Amino acid sequence: MVEHNVAERIRHPGLLARIQSAGQAARLFEPGMTVGMSGFTKAGDAKALPRALVERAREQPLGLTLITGASLGNDSDGMMANAGVIRRRLPFQADASMRRKINTGEVMFIDQHLSETAEQLRSGALPRIDIAVIEACAIREDGAIVPTMAVGNSASFVQAARHVIVELNLAAPAALEGLHDIYVPRPRPAREPIPLTHPGQRIGSGAIMLDPERIAAIVVTDHADSPSSVLPPDEGTDAIARHVIAFLEGEVAAGRMGPELLPLQAGIGTIANAVLHGLAQSSFRNLSMYSEVLQDSAIALLESGQLALASASSITLSAPMHERFLANLDRYRDRIVLRPQEISNHPEIVRRLGIIGLNTALEFDIYGNVNSTHVGGTNMMNGIGGSGDFARNGELAIFVSKSEAKDGAISSVVPMVAHVDHTEHDVDVLVTEWGLADLRGLAPRERAPLIIERCAHPDYRGQLRDYYERALLRGGQTPHVLEEALSWHERYRTSKHMRAV
Ligand code: COA
Repeated sequence: MVEHNVAERIRHPGLLARIQSAGQAARLFEPGMTVGMSGFTKAGDAKALPRALVERAREQPLGLTLITGASLGNDSDGMMANAGVIRRRLPFQADASMRRKINTGEVMFIDQHLSETAEQLRSGALPRIDIAVIEACAIREDGAIVPTMAVGNSASFVQAARHVIVELNLAAPAALEGLHDIYVPRPRPAREPIPLTHPGQRIGSGAIMLDPERIAAIVVTDHADSPSSVLPPDEGTDAIARHVIAFLEGEVAAGRMGPELLPLQAGIGTIANAVLHGLAQSSFRNLSMYSEVLQDSAIALLESGQLALASASSITLSAPMHERFLANLDRYRDRIVLRPQEISNHPEIVRRLGIIGLNTALEFDIYGNVNSTHVGGTNMMNGIGGSGDFARNGELAIFVSKSEAKDGAISSVVPMVAHVDHTEHDVDVLVTEWGLADLRGLAPRERAPLIIERCAHPDYRGQLRDYYERALLRGGQTPHVLEEALSWHERYRTSKHMRAV
């Protein structure tokens, strides 16, 4: 049965002879190699090779540079980090063990805009990919690789790699074929405009094209993607959703966009997912998404019909939604497009379409600078992901956060962020459960009172007002009491609370 299934999935007859075990394929890897693996926000990741590399590293340290689309599922990042498989990692991760290795300096992590990796591979700024490992649901008659639930950087890895290993995953339905649209820009300077003017438009091929001779091995697997781990909406996230929706209704009322809004992007995480869930209660219809990842909320909106179409680079779902999605795939087939992350996040397209970007901040400051990545200013959380691609280039950059973390010991609104991912120039709107601050057209001295009064937790407002008033005495375009600006973080480091006693 399995053999029959494999023969149906590998439609290029000459390639059946390339099937190997993961252990055999792992022999192709040499210490110090640069490896490109499929996988984006836990979807479409290679499942067998990471484990085989962990085994191989027991005999010989590998110290690989691992480049992916974004985070991997199946505990792969953690296992490989703990086994010493990886020395260098980019462009994104979201794993507790990998995070520890990064923060102890054992793994060098390059935290990169997700649209940029493919460009740097193409230009030669990053080392050439020695081996690409790509999860597929099928290999076509012409040898082209049909990805699964994510495209990520896979097409660029295949273009750049010396050897390609395909992981054919029988747990991914063959019916996924047809969702993908693979377009890879040409090298500069002969680059032409990317011909995409509508979120649902298809501009490329249905699979990753390559000379089949370059496929060095095919490993057959049967493992589902890891389920997403977002928490259900709560009182705080519901309040944030209500503020965002009221704001968007105001934009429509002011005539700045139509009732179908502009295409939406929503980042990973619980809050962004909750805001999209909130849209289900809104009067918006005929919405579109041009995002990098689709979570449960996006599929629910497609089901309800409020979302007309969705473009992304990956689909990351909870286990029940994953099952529902695959069972009803034919209902969505014409309304979902999965693209390379270079295209889902491309500055040219994000600016042309006028994306409404909705991403989560760890903290933001009274002038609108946002930290999405560094806990306490030093320790890496996950990475900037695509938030910068959308914030810098979109029509609206909305950042959401709960006003406090760690049971109130941390204020998410601080005098100065301890690390800047999104500068005040890229941030349009800040939202917490307490309210929304629209920063457009406001100077720093106008922003600070608004952010303090609308977004900060009431327990921290007095402390922020006091800081700002004393900063004003010193003057400046962006007033600060510099020797105190990071004292809140320092207070938390030493006494586990940001509140002044
Ligand atoms: N200081 C320290 N820790 C903080 C904090 C702050 N100001 N704010 C939140 N945290 C902690 C929370 O307590 C929680 O800790 P825990 O894991 O120990 O419980 C953790 O950060 C995650 O916070 P949570 O509220 O669960 O948010 P989330 O799941 O929505 O994730 C980000 C929030 C910012 C970590 C996540 O959205 C992210 O990695 N963003 C950057 C990448 C990105 O935006 N990509 C967008 C395109 S996909």
